[in-house]
Amino acid sequence: MRVVVLTGAGISAESGVPTFRDADGLWEGHRVEDVATPEAYEAQPSVVQAFYDARRAALATVEPNPAHVALARLEAALGDRLFLVTQNIDDLHERGGSRHVHHMHGELRSALCRGCDHHVPWTEDLGDFPPCPGCGVAELRPDVVWFGEVPYGMDQIQVALQRADVFVSIGTSGAVYPAAGFVQLAGRYGARTIELNLQPSEGTEYFDDARHGPASALVPAWVDEVLASLEPA
Ligand code: NAD
Ligand code: APR
Repeated sequence: MRVVVLTGAGISAESGVPTFRDADGLWEGHRVEDVATPEAYEAQPSVVQAFYDARRAALATVEPNPAHVALARLEAALGDRLFLVTQNIDDLHERGGSRHVHHMHGELRSALCRGCDHHVPWTEDLGDFPPCPGCGVAELRPDVVWFGEVPYGMDQIQVALQRADVFVSIGTSGAVYPAAGFVQLAGRYGARTIELNLQPSEGTEYFDDARHGPASALVPAWVDEVLASLEPA
């Protein structure tokens, strides 16, 4: 059985990472156009760096929750038959034990050098515009995909969706494309589709099975179901 799991901000909510669109979400306190577009970065790089520096620093105070850990358990059982794609830029999947995580919107703990185009592992602030360790040019930006930019690895995602027997969407509002369209693609290619979210997402009607509640409860329960179905009768 091949499984594609898509995660969003909701899977990290119970770890203490704010989501984007819920009450008190990040987009309540910030205008997207001010902090998450290439135009914002050109106009006010310090404001954008400060926004992501704060979020990067906050990673030090949070821990993975049972939902992240359950997905690592699923990977241990399925190996490369699991394709885990996240919209999250935190590293809680990795810290929960997942080894292969496809970060379609980039990663906070990475910087992108506009001088040499390299992705550089990065855990410090970028606000003081440090030089790239590779080329020395002081042009390191957050390695995140902003509105108007193309998400990473869409070709690989497309192939995984085509091959999937099961597609599961966890903790995402279904408001942002292209991720919001994966359910329809996977369904069209023949996958059974499952939503695990606190409340119905914008695309909830596209799922064969929609379960609503906290990810820390729903995800371990669903993983247990999958693992039980793999065991010989
Ligand atoms: P796009 O520029 O093609 O379209 C963005 C659309 O979103 C616009 O129509 C805009 O009006 C609308 N929009 C503005 N504010 C919004 C909000 N608060 N919630 C929902 N929609 C809003 O960009 P796109 O195709 O939606 O996104 C390109 C990629 O960039 C996506 O994968 C997206 O998730 C990603 N992104 C990443 C970050 C990040 O911080 N990692 C932030 C924003 C977008
Ligand atoms: N368990 C499960 N789901 C939860 C929980 C929880 N404990 N808490 C919140 N949720 C759900 C919410 O109900 C909501 O539907 O998680 C979803 C979070 O939605 P968003 O905040 O919109 O986050 P996401 O879907 O990941 O946003 C997509 O938008 O701004 C861009 O690039 C950014 O990657 C992000 C993308």
